[in-house]
Amino acid sequence: MIYAQILAGGKGTRMGNVPMPKQFLSLADKPILIHTIEKFVLESRFDAILVVCPADWLSHTQDLVSKYVSDERVHVVTGGSERNETLMKGIEYIRDNYGLHDDDVVITHDAVRPFITSRIINDNIEAVLANPAVDTVVPAIDTIVQGSEEKIDDIPVRSTMYQGQTPQSFNIKTLIESYEALSDAQKETLSDSCKICLLAGQPVKMVRGENFNFKITTPYDLRVATALVETRS
Ligand code: CTP
Repeated sequence: MIYAQILAGGKGTRMGNVPMPKQFLSLADKPILIHTIEKFVLESRFDAILVVCPADWLSHTQDLVSKYVSDERVHVVTGGSERNETLMKGIEYIRDNYGLHDDDVVITHDAVRPFITSRIINDNIEAVLANPAVDTVVPAIDTIVQGSEEKIDDIPVRSTMYQGQTPQSFNIKTLIESYEALSDAQKETLSDSCKICLLAGQPVKMVRGENFNFKITTPYDLRVATALVETRS
């Protein structure tokens, strides 16, 4: 089975003083989350599409899905307090409702990256059917400088540097085994899902993203996204 999991369980604190988590804010004519879900329902290869949201926003998310999306593959599920916890709540939902099979895969995507394309989704599907884990990346444009406390430790060669986006896609059994091998401290501090598999020694394949597949994080990003939607319509 091929699953999609849209991660919408965050708070969006970097968006500043807004009345709701950023995935529910309007982008032109509808919530950001709906723009993203619509990209996934266009893909017939998905057997089920999970939308994983904060517990407090479950009925709001269900109302939005009923209003904007008519596709029986879409299911709204409660997420967790950390991003990887949200990811694993979706995996538990899959296990409990569909069972787990060796070749099951999941394409996970940030709800706040509404400019995902069919090409990126399908490249992820092809890659994860042949590899245990997949990350979507773009080559770094700026030089990446590594350091702390205002002091540079290293300036890695830019041609080997990429910026991670989503989707991140996994063979589900590999993801569960890799996650269970982590310590509690690692589970709490890991901010990147592909690193779960990397730490377990699994190879992670790279798929090319797009610079416009950016994550809406700040008010500036929302202004850029609004301008993009308006110029495209
Ligand atoms: N996410 C999630 N569950 C969490 C935290 C994040 O599903 N517990 C999701 C967000 O909803 C978002 C994506 O992961 O679609 C990327 O999260 P990010 O924007 O980095 O984090 P937020 O918590 O949403 O925002 P902030 O860090 O500004 O508080």
